[in-house]
Amino acid sequence: EKGGWSSFMAKEVSEEPEAVANTIRGRIHDSAVVIPELDGLDELFAGTERILVIACGTAAYAGQVGKYALEKWARVPVDVELAHEFRYRDPVLSAGTLVVSISQSGETMDTLMAVKYARERGAKTLSICNTQGATIPRESDAVVYTHAGPEVAVASTKAFVAQITALYLLALHIARVRDSISAADQARHVAELEAVPAKIAHILEHEQERTTQLAHWMADTRSVLFLGRHVGFPIALEGALKLKEISYIHAEGFAAGELKHGPIALIEPGQPVFVIVPSPRESSLLHDKVVSNIQEIRARGARVIVIAEAGDAAVLPFADEVLRIPLAGPMFEALLAVVPLHIFAMGLATARGLDVDQPRNLAKSVTVE
Ligand code: M6R
Repeated sequence: EKGGWSSFMAKEVSEEPEAVANTIRGRIHDSAVVIPELDGLDELFAGTERILVIACGTAAYAGQVGKYALEKWARVPVDVELAHEFRYRDPVLSAGTLVVSISQSGETMDTLMAVKYARERGAKTLSICNTQGATIPRESDAVVYTHAGPEVAVASTKAFVAQITALYLLALHIARVRDSISAADQARHVAELEAVPAKIAHILEHEQERTTQLAHWMADTRSVLFLGRHVGFPIALEGALKLKEISYIHAEGFAAGELKHGPIALIEPGQPVFVIVPSPRESSLLHDKVVSNIQEIRARGARVIVIAEAGDAAVLPFADEVLRIPLAGPMFEALLAVVPLHIFAMGLATARGLDVDQPRNLAKSVTVE
């Protein structure tokens, strides 16, 4: 039950560190990822020519984050597709296609039908699921469970970070089988992943109050934009979805590089914009491009709320607010930057007097097509 928490969502956000830690547990051996459930599938992974990720909503954003890791580490081309679009366009499914579905509930009808469709056409199916024994894992050839624990609030939070964790584990498992990264890199990424729970806990401890305060100040805002790049792009989409879902405010996420291709026209004085800034340590190029995006929107009067790693001073002259995340490898920033966005959505919905657990018009699990 809720324990001392004001809502299930508040409780579940506070459980994000454990959700990640529990999903990792038992899957690391000698500084490499070995997922016991995937034992016996080495040949399948060695022969995989393409991975197709299918999911809906937040799970699809986790899939988009996972694409960066699967391609970078396992060196397999990845497409991410919304389950409800996939089935209706006569998709090409070769024998070398591995379909990875992602679903917290394991009962989402759109995703289930897409998995069945792929299976009937000869693709191998692997499901990432949070609910033991649910229909989607039962209909799949293999399953990697996320161990986020039961998620009650309609807005998915701890399951989202667990899904990204499972995708990173899957990417490192496949990379090991395919020998596509060195043992040293594998070990480095394993260490980075294992450090994530404590870093999320740090954000919850140090940034929660300020982020909630910010949300309260913004209770009357009519629209919020979110910008990100690399893994920060799907995180921007997730930040926008969460805000729409529970606070009923118009919100839109963009790839920061798209700004000048259209969205910058939306910027007018006072428009709040969250910007997720990639670390300057790994790629100063990406970092500097996002900082110049910030300058561009600031010059047009945007109210800029930056999410940046500790010590990144380049953002300071152009930001109205800076929320800090601990230092992490470029892939792992996704798991950190999303935390303030979950807190912000919850804070804004609360400030507007809304029921954060049961938003209007929505069900926890969408069991109709
Ligand atoms: O149970 P699933 O992961 O398959 O659900 C998919 C979406 O319906 C779900 O993520 C939805 O977008 C959430 N309410 C978002 O917070």
